[in-house]
Amino acid sequence: MTWFIQAIYFLTAVAFIYALKQMSHPKTARQGVVYAGVAMAVAVLATFLWPGMHNLGLMVVALVVGSAVAWWAAKVVAMTDMPQMVAIYNGMGGGAAGTIAAVELLKGELTPAFAALAVLGGLIGAVSFSGSLIAFAKLQRLMKERPITFPGQQVFNLVWLAVTVVIGIVLVFKPVVSLIVLFFLLALVFGVLMTLPIGGADMPVVISLYNAFTGLAVGFEGIALSQPALMVAGTVVGAAGTLLTQLMAKAMNRSLANVLFGAFGAVEQESEIEGEMKEIGLEDAAALMAYASKVIIVPGYGMAVAQAQHKIKELMDELEKRGVEVKFAIHPVAGRMPGHMNVLLAEAGVPYDKLFDLDDINPEFETADVALVIGANDVVNPAARREGSPLYGMPILDVDKAKNVIVIKRGRGKGFAGIENELFYMPNTRMLFGDAKDVVTKLVQSIKQY
Ligand code: TAP
Repeated sequence: MTWFIQAIYFLTAVAFIYALKQMSHPKTARQGVVYAGVAMAVAVLATFLWPGMHNLGLMVVALVVGSAVAWWAAKVVAMTDMPQMVAIYNGMGGGAAGTIAAVELLKGELTPAFAALAVLGGLIGAVSFSGSLIAFAKLQRLMKERPITFPGQQVFNLVWLAVTVVIGIVLVFKPVVSLIVLFFLLALVFGVLMTLPIGGADMPVVISLYNAFTGLAVGFEGIALSQPALMVAGTVVGAAGTLLTQLMAKAMNRSLANVLFGAFGAVEQESEIEGEMKEIGLEDAAALMAYASKVIIVPGYGMAVAQAQHKIKELMDELEKRGVEVKFAIHPVAGRMPGHMNVLLAEAGVPYDKLFDLDDINPEFETADVALVIGANDVVNPAARREGSPLYGMPILDVDKAKNVIVIKRGRGKGFAGIENELFYMPNTRMLFGDAKDVVTKLVQSIKQY
């Protein structure tokens, strides 16, 4: 039976890796999620077959309650709240790994080598748990989103971590209850301390990092428990999380150290731009687009906030009916999570072949009659080309090169980086103020007259 279960675990591990591969492309991503879900269900069922497994009733109750809560939460969560949902789920994974470590240490049966792995996994899991809860609270606006800083914070955090690690080392050789409790309390508080100085908008990167942490913690617990399935699943999650964290930091042109310790967004940036914003009326904007030969739509975080994607699809259809070539320019960090824009536009039925990456679309802006920016800000800010700007070095969409730029946003709100956008003051740019969904709805109605 043990051999049979291990074989099932191996197959599910292969399925996880295949599912991850599927998830790397929008066309196959949904299928990938289904494969991963089925593989997880099979692995959980196989676990019930372990010889000598007890507390089956309790396990079934926990599974039913957990699944019901997750099912309900996934149904009601808004697409814009997805990052905090991932944070809370990820935190639970870290918490589970930490709890397994605590239980194993409390049993006191581990050799020092395995106890060391359990301590390491416990530390990472506990940090991931409490850190993810703070990430959730910041994104859910249950607490201040801005970085919370105090003088000497980094040294304080470092000393806290050092004390936790020393207690962890003592624990390996002397696993007494009081030390185990103290160790986990210190680790949990460290997760909070580490996350407080990070701003709400950097949270997706941090969540991805904690995701990698959770994977590592699970992997370590797998070794401590001699469970190959946990080792493989943990390593896969750890590697995927690490790669995603790197990709996100790279797309923002910031180092991970800057994300973690830079307290980005702690200080409001002063506006230094001269000139004034010019507005455009709905009718004029509609006419400009209806008679254009090429329109490039640039969605950003505001599209997600307004849930304007379905109306944008209608806009695309109306323009195409009039012979206008419509393309979408997708910046890798537009929105608040990887693939945010792709997911929303796909949900609205915009075909994948209309979505273009930064490198592919940038040369095309020069030939566009209209670049329509919908709720995007930082990803189109030409300040990123200027040394000294907080955005300096971040690759941007070259929207300013289009013949006409129309920007839809509610007012003069800044983007996530908290700096003014030079694009809004350029001679070829005109602002169309309002909620993205309302404005695009009205634009569609207006365009129908042409
Ligand atoms: P942002 O720079 O955040 O700007 C979004 C703009 O949307 C705001 O200026 C806001 O202006 C407008 N807006 C908000 N609600 C709106 C609504 N209902 N209707 C119309 N407009 C609305 O967005 P972006 O250009 O997508 O850039 C994303 C930023 O997030 C980047 O700096 C990126 O580095 C950062 N970030 C991204 C990720 C990932 S993975 N995507 C992860 C971490 C950080 P008003 O308030 O005036 O309306």
